[in-house]
Amino acid sequence: MHTEIFNAKTQKENGTNYAARVIRAGGLVAFPTETVYGLGANGLDGEAVERIFEAKGRPQDNPLILHVAKKSDVKQLWRHVPDDAKRLMDAFWPGPLTLIFLRSDIVPDEVAAGLPTVAVRMPEHKTALALIRAAGVPIAAPSANLSGRPSPTTAQHVLEDMDGRIDVILDGGPCPVGVESTVLTLVGKPTILRPGGITREMLEAIIGEVDVSPAVLRPLEEGEEAASPGMKHRHYAPDAEVVVAVGTPRRIASILCREYEIEEAMGRRCVVLGTEQTRTCYNGMNCDIIGDREDPATLCRELFSALRRWSGKVDVILAEGISETDSGLAYMNRLLRAAGFSVLEK
Ligand code: TXA
Ligand code: MG
Repeated sequence: MHTEIFNAKTQKENGTNYAARVIRAGGLVAFPTETVYGLGANGLDGEAVERIFEAKGRPQDNPLILHVAKKSDVKQLWRHVPDDAKRLMDAFWPGPLTLIFLRSDIVPDEVAAGLPTVAVRMPEHKTALALIRAAGVPIAAPSANLSGRPSPTTAQHVLEDMDGRIDVILDGGPCPVGVESTVLTLVGKPTILRPGGITREMLEAIIGEVDVSPAVLRPLEEGEEAASPGMKHRHYAPDAEVVVAVGTPRRIASILCREYEIEEAMGRRCVVLGTEQTRTCYNGMNCDIIGDREDPATLCRELFSALRRWSGKVDVILAEGISETDSGLAYMNRLLRAAGFSVLEK
C-alpha cells in the first residue's frame, strides 16, 4: 500500500476531502489532534475498525475512542447522556478529555473490544474536526504508532511507524499537548483511567469528587483486573532502556550523574533528559533539555518526541521524575510506563 501525505495547511481542501473519502470507503487515515496523531477509520464500520488493529499490531482486547465533531453526536453512541457528562462536555469539549459510558447498539463490537461501554471525545484540532465533519461519521482512532511504541506527535513519527500500512497521513505539524487525552469513566463513581491535560482538579471543579485509578502510577498487581484494558500492555517503549530518578531536583541530578558514569564504564551509551532547572548539573555529559520542571506541560509536549529521538541511538535514557500534581501526573504516568517502572531513588 502506498501512503499519501498531505500538508494540512497548504493542501487543506484537497487533503481533507480525499481523506474523508478514504474513511468512508473503509480505509485508514492518520490525522493530527491537539494531543497526539490518531489513526482513524469509520467508527461505525467494524471491518474498517479491524484494519486499525492490523496496522498497529494492537491487542484485540484494547478498545478504541470514537472522535466526534459536535457534542450532540454522543446521543447516538451512548444509551443516554448522564448529567455529569453534559457538564464536562460544556466545560472541556472540544479538548483533551475522553468520556466513557454505556454504548448504544450502533457501536460495533470491534470498537468496544466486547465491553458494554464506549469512549468518546471531541478533539479541538481544526484538521481533526474538519476531517470528522467531511467524513460524516464518528472516527475511531487510537494513537497512530505501532503498538508498544511512543505515541506520535509529528507526521514524521507517524511515517516512521506506518509507512506502507495506511492510506493517508494529514500533516498538521507538531501536536501542542503532546500526551494523550485524559480518560474518565462515568460508569459508577467518576474515575480517571488515564491522566492527561485535563487534570483531576479541573474535573472536580465541575462534577465534585473524582477517583484516580490506582494503576495510573504503578504496574497492575498479579491477578488485578485492569479498569482499562490499555493498562495491561507495555507502552511508549523506545529502542533503549529507560530509567527514572525521583526525589528533589538536586538529588535526582546526583543520582543520574552517578548512573551515567556507571553505565558509561560498562560501555553503554547514555543520554540524560534534563530540565531547565538542572541544566548545569550534567556538564560534559550527553544531555537533552526537554522542558521546565515548574511547567510540566512543557515536559508533556516533548516527552514522546525525545523518546523517539534517542530510540536506537543510545542504550540508556536517564530521565528526571517530577511532582505528580497537575499535568505532572500525566507526565509521570507516561514516563514510568516507558521505563517499565524502573525507578532509582535514594
Ligand atoms: O488523545 C487521545 O486520546 C488519542 C487521540 C488520537 O485522540 N487517542 C488515544 O487512543 O490515545 P489510544 O487507543 O491510544 O488510547 C485509548 C485508551 C486505551 O488505554 C484504552 O484501553 C482506553 O483508552 N479505553 C478506550 N475505550 C475504553 C473503554 N470502553 N473502557 C475502558 N478503557 C477504554
Ligand atoms: Mg495509544
